[in-house]
Amino acid sequence: MALGTRPHHHYRTRGALRAAVLLGVVTLLPPTAVAASAMTSDPVADRQAGTPSTSFRPGAEWRDTDGKVIQAHGGQVLQAVDDDGKRIWYWYGEDRSNGYFDSPGIHLYSSHDLYNWKDNGLALRTLSSQDQFTNDKYFAHLYKDYTAEQREIVWRDLSTNLERTDGWARPSILERPKVIYNKATGKWVMWVHSDGPSSPTSTSTYARAEAGVAIANSPKGPFRWLGSYRLNHVPSDSVPWCGSSPAFDPAGGMARDMTLFVDDDGIGYIIYSSEENRTMYISKLNAAYTYLSAPPETAVQGKDFVRTLACNQREAPAMFKSEGRYYLVTSGATGWDPNPARYATATEILGTWTDRGNPISGPGAGDTYRSQSTNVIPYDRQQNKFIFMGDRWTPSTLATSPYVWMPMSFGENGTLTIGPDAEWQLDDLQPYQHWTVTTPMPDHVWLRDTSTLPTQVQVSQAGVTTTHPVSWDPSTVAQPGPTKLRGTLDDGRTFTRDVVVVPHGLRYVVNAGGAATADWQLLADAGSSEAGLLNSTPEQPVGADPGTGTTWGYTGSSGTYGGAAGDLYNTLRWAKDKEPLTYTFTGLDRGTYTVHAGYWDPWPWANRAAQVSINGTVVDEERLFTSDYTTGEYANISVGDDGEIVVDIAPTRAPDIQVSWLMVTRTD
Ligand code: GAL
Repeated sequence: MALGTRPHHHYRTRGALRAAVLLGVVTLLPPTAVAASAMTSDPVADRQAGTPSTSFRPGAEWRDTDGKVIQAHGGQVLQAVDDDGKRIWYWYGEDRSNGYFDSPGIHLYSSHDLYNWKDNGLALRTLSSQDQFTNDKYFAHLYKDYTAEQREIVWRDLSTNLERTDGWARPSILERPKVIYNKATGKWVMWVHSDGPSSPTSTSTYARAEAGVAIANSPKGPFRWLGSYRLNHVPSDSVPWCGSSPAFDPAGGMARDMTLFVDDDGIGYIIYSSEENRTMYISKLNAAYTYLSAPPETAVQGKDFVRTLACNQREAPAMFKSEGRYYLVTSGATGWDPNPARYATATEILGTWTDRGNPISGPGAGDTYRSQSTNVIPYDRQQNKFIFMGDRWTPSTLATSPYVWMPMSFGENGTLTIGPDAEWQLDDLQPYQHWTVTTPMPDHVWLRDTSTLPTQVQVSQAGVTTTHPVSWDPSTVAQPGPTKLRGTLDDGRTFTRDVVVVPHGLRYVVNAGGAATADWQLLADAGSSEAGLLNSTPEQPVGADPGTGTTWGYTGSSGTYGGAAGDLYNTLRWAKDKEPLTYTFTGLDRGTYTVHAGYWDPWPWANRAAQVSINGTVVDEERLFTSDYTTGEYANISVGDDGEIVVDIAPTRAPDIQVSWLMVTRTD
């Protein structure tokens, strides 16, 4: 890893990834994709035998009622009413039958049961030649009233051919189409990530970064292209672009991965990854859903749009509403590679969004069961039954990238769970009514000691409050530092609370990197109230503490990651030049001590590892750094008259090492 560039490695820019993919420099195919495409025989056989599907098989090949592989990637399923007044589902998506470029357009399928899909053909067609405006009936009719200038825009946005006829170096692309119905106008409105080169000579596929819109009189199309636009944004130089540069894009308003949402009051919204995919925006649409509620020049933040999840670098947004709350499920930004999902909730759509973490735990958490979100289907909103739609992108064979539809469920305070990716049926979706534990919880708890926690809690559901005995999961208070304390009610329902676990006898609590995070402050306060802390700041180079005068601190050439808004784990100090990081603690009374250390890696693909020694003895042969928060516990350290503990963390592999936090506690 090039040393100077390391702090930037958490931003894997789309441009760089895209270039790498196109040049064939790296293979982004997940190792497990082979297994996925091997699971294809059953559905094919079923379909050929004419047997309708009665279940979802996430990741398996999915064929339409004619036996052809469904082409509806990065898509959405929309509920409508058919000519017989029956509920019908429309599935719109990217037609990737020709791979990455040369997409025929946006494909449509329809279904009455969500399992079996009929091919309705292309809802929006792309163009391969400008002559089609005159010699192809479809385009001649659809664009008959368009001026030459308007046709120029349609051509620019819908020409997806790699072999271009107009001298441009690169084609355009259409991704993540979403359709909403406008009750007032009776029109179906499609928005799509419309991208491509910004000029004839540009070779970038993601330079234009716009949202395009098309309109139709029928859900089946034909959708007529209206144009594509940059969207609302704050003044480009008014905010740090979170590691990217506003100078890179002075116009602002970039819109890449996107989705649509219509609220109960009929107001439509477009949700898009902006500022070079660093920050999410939610913008109100106009009454016809064909443009923004106000042009970017006059749009007012908080009224017309909100800039949210700033610097979280989220993509692939999917929005839904449950029990009066808005949910936004997103992916990280790693191109076709899967990554952990996260979700955020809000009570006002243009208000404050709160990150609620990963909706998946256990297997599947690290890569969203090898998928990337694209949409959430409100299957039954009354009963809060929702379906997660994702894509398991296989960049080498995009055409057959499997679909991953998984059940969603809810817990205390609307906590969302997605998965698992096993075969399932609609009947497996459980009804849910919002419930929450209202008893306040202490902000800290002692290590392996739940005696300070309540033995019963109040639960509120639909305005009724009941009292329940609660048991606390000891494994959630078994490590010091921030934790998700888990309680189980007498009826089996579980809930979690963010608390900080504090070891008794705390003498030093160091947040490596030096950020005064809230959890560090809680630990420092709890520690001071008990044994008495010898450090008064989160971290310092070795020297006298400004508050206590005791000598402590780190040595080793290094840099820092994260800020005060983070936590103990995701703020850290990283070493340079193969040097170890050494932390010295003095002023300790004679006795036996335990050192706890926290590890986490924002650059887990580096596969770094360390050997940890305390006072010259190896206590950890090979500590691996991963994307999980992990803790090392090094007990029975004898401190003699020198009153000193020296913790040394040295690399055992090529990449440099790092550490998130250290605690020194006296155990007798
Ligand atoms: C993903 C994005 C996809 C597609 C892909 C190309 O991050 O969600 O829609 O653009 O990158 O690499």
